[in-house]
Amino acid sequence: MPDRAATSPSVEQHLDDTRDARLESYKDFLRIPSISALPEHAADVRRAAEWLADTLRSAGLEHVAVEETSRHPVVYADWLHAEGAPTALVYGHYDVQPVDPLELWTSPPFEPAVVDGRMLARGAADDKGQVHAHAMAAAAIMTTRGAFPINVKYVFEGAEESGSDGLDEWLATHRERLAADVAIISDTGFFEGNIPAITVSLRGLMYGQIDVVGSAVDLHSGGYGGAVQNPANALAQILAALKGPDGRIRIPGFYDAVVALTEEERAAMAELPFDEEAYRRESHIGELVGEVGYSTLERRATRPTLDVNGLWGGFQGEGTKTIIPAHAHAKVSCRLVATQDPIDVFEKFRDFVLEIAPPGVDVTVTDLGGGRPSRTPIDHPMTRAAARALEATFGRAPVFTREGGSIPVSASFESILGLPVVLLGFAQPHENAHAPDEWMSLENYEGAIRAIVGTFDEMAKRDDGTPE
Ligand code: BES
Ligand code: MN
Ligand code: MN
Repeated sequence: MPDRAATSPSVEQHLDDTRDARLESYKDFLRIPSISALPEHAADVRRAAEWLADTLRSAGLEHVAVEETSRHPVVYADWLHAEGAPTALVYGHYDVQPVDPLELWTSPPFEPAVVDGRMLARGAADDKGQVHAHAMAAAAIMTTRGAFPINVKYVFEGAEESGSDGLDEWLATHRERLAADVAIISDTGFFEGNIPAITVSLRGLMYGQIDVVGSAVDLHSGGYGGAVQNPANALAQILAALKGPDGRIRIPGFYDAVVALTEEERAAMAELPFDEEAYRRESHIGELVGEVGYSTLERRATRPTLDVNGLWGGFQGEGTKTIIPAHAHAKVSCRLVATQDPIDVFEKFRDFVLEIAPPGVDVTVTDLGGGRPSRTPIDHPMTRAAARALEATFGRAPVFTREGGSIPVSASFESILGLPVVLLGFAQPHENAHAPDEWMSLENYEGAIRAIVGTFDEMAKRDDGTPE
């Protein structure tokens, strides 16, 4: 528990008094299997939206609504009575990743359990825990003060983990209603060692699939081997050509839009208290590798990547089967950095794959979606307000970090709504997001509630700390 009362005595008292009920409510939210990628869970995603809307309504927020998009619903709520004060648009997502492989979970993913100060469940950290912290912060403010220090508009998404389909259209449609001074996104985490952090850049994503087809059915490798192209060999040849042993991606023009970090930015990254050996250990990896000429921190957040995410085709069973497989497939993704565009990168990827495809097979390349990278300001008054609140809550000034993950809406808040973004996230590093045994540190969760209240209070002040 944070030992400092960064908010106000009445808020602290309220949070102390309601701790048990709050954990039960957090667990109730986590019990709903809101997996956005799986069609059979669509009703659960909606149930989570309704649950969240009810909770925001009970907190005292207004205009609470479950709103339709072309995909899963958005939960909207606001409180707009702080006349003359700034307006913050708060974002998080209530959908979660699939849970397989189930057998690797210590306890079932949708039966939340508190173990050693951690909430263990799918979505505990990414991102239901952070969404819940916002709802609890709103309840604490309204219960104890009856009014927010600033105006707030909440937008909680239900399709982030499956590509945010429909969200940009929804944002564009409601542009005027969503007008604000700043967007606060709570979907990132602290730095290595659980140091409070504000993220200042996110990578984007290009995701494609390569399908290689030879014959209509598998062929006898004795009767045909040597005389026909093998789709699996052809795919391996294509994949091997995409990246060199130096870690550089070989797609022509791939790096054209990459903005290099300045020497100052590289120096600031090198200053971060990063224990590379601890990072290697906690990642359960024998040896760290990557693009020549860059540090591990730079590689994982400021450089674009190309990775095979899945690879299949041919005989997978036990023993042997002597065939030329009829087809082979790969899912390939690239993490992108500013100012690479996912569609442009997909086209370059597709064109290169088709160009190098060996003869004797049909190759198709399909775009599976993506998102844009974003860089957010380090010195905006609203970023500074959040930094002061983090320091007051956690007793340590935040570090400014770059994250390798993607939150496509960050770029959309800038381009569609014209908002500066503050990436104010609270997950602990190595919290098993997207993996079995995802967990959220309850210390971070409780601190998040206080830091959120503190951020709103600080945003109500002038940048020099005096009241507006
Ligand atoms: N919360 C993550 C994004 C993230 C991950 C931020 C790591 C900072 C560090 C988000 O829920 C996520 O998983 N995003 C996807 C985006 C994709 C589905 C378009 C990702 O990064 O793979
Ligand atoms: Mn997330
Ligand atoms: Mn995620």
